[in-house]
Amino acid sequence: MSGPSLIDSFGRVHKNLRVSVTDRCNIRCFYCMPEVVKFLPRKDVLTFEEITRLTRVFASVGIERIRLTGGEPLTRRGLSNLVGMLKEVEGIKEIAATTNGLLLADQAADLWEAGLDRLNVSLDTLDAGKFKQITRRNGLDKVIAGIDAAQEVGFENIRINAVAIKGLTESDIIPLATFARQRELELRFIEFMPLDGDQQWDSTSVMTGSSIRELIEREVGALVEVERKLASQPAKDFAYSDGQGRVGFIDPVSAPFCAACDRVRITAEGKLRNCLFSTEEWNLLELLREGATDQEILDSIVQSVAQKKAGHGIDSEEFVRPRRAMYQIGG
Ligand code: 5AD
Ligand code: SF4
Repeated sequence: MSGPSLIDSFGRVHKNLRVSVTDRCNIRCFYCMPEVVKFLPRKDVLTFEEITRLTRVFASVGIERIRLTGGEPLTRRGLSNLVGMLKEVEGIKEIAATTNGLLLADQAADLWEAGLDRLNVSLDTLDAGKFKQITRRNGLDKVIAGIDAAQEVGFENIRINAVAIKGLTESDIIPLATFARQRELELRFIEFMPLDGDQQWDSTSVMTGSSIRELIEREVGALVEVERKLASQPAKDFAYSDGQGRVGFIDPVSAPFCAACDRVRITAEGKLRNCLFSTEEWNLLELLREGATDQEILDSIVQSVAQKKAGHGIDSEEFVRPRRAMYQIGG
């Protein structure tokens, strides 16, 4: 059975909605945020009721999976209440969240009980000094405690997202891979994208997924590619040939996966983006607060998706860096 769907001019059917619940964060990863940031005033951020209403509208055109992002989503008070509200939306099959893990030990039980299905924890290093260098804050021990707590309350297949940066995180790759194997965590390396707050990105700081893979095969063990469960999934996953654990690679720079993209995004201030790198946004918050009908909101969503470009073209001459940094989009 299939109802109406959100389909773009390249035939891509959209099933995933990423919702940023806040632009605030308790750390300051340089690849995502500037050191000094001015956050949105609270009144300009979507309420839980507004997020739930939008989710209902998206679900009516085939959105099935929600990922809560930020900033750091766990800094948004009462996040588990939102999870509970979204769980009730007909058609939503999965709710996931991407967190830096710092507040996870406190909130894992509530999130689990509210029905959160999956967790991704961002962690680029197991070295406390390097953690501080990247995030400009302390807190590695809290992240590890958060992962432990999440596993204890019942979360399975927790994924670690590690951004790999040339000249900085080479020495963190093997320890992370070993840690993930021991703890039964799925590890995914993400190539550094031009979405940092300080606009320092350049292609020479990208460590490609394939170079990381070679390193892991040399130092940890042989890898066998695993078939994608969903064609739209951006990661290329591998299993260690000894059967213990997996590692995946998200290579937006060296191997863009835009052709299979099924994602749309809402920023914390209710702007709809049809791509991580889109330069245009559709203001859903304004529509909501002006009293628009569901149909009017849907019209705006459909229009945005219809205008989605084929891909980001990071490597092309015409590439335009989005005005927003990662923390203002939600990843
Ligand atoms: N390039 C690649 N990944 C990034 N992330 C944040 N900023 C960047 C960037 N510039 C990652 C975070 C998190 C996810 C939401 O995106 O580490 O895991
Ligand atoms: Fe915060 Fe995530 Fe950005 Fe790091 S990557 S500063 S954890 S929002």
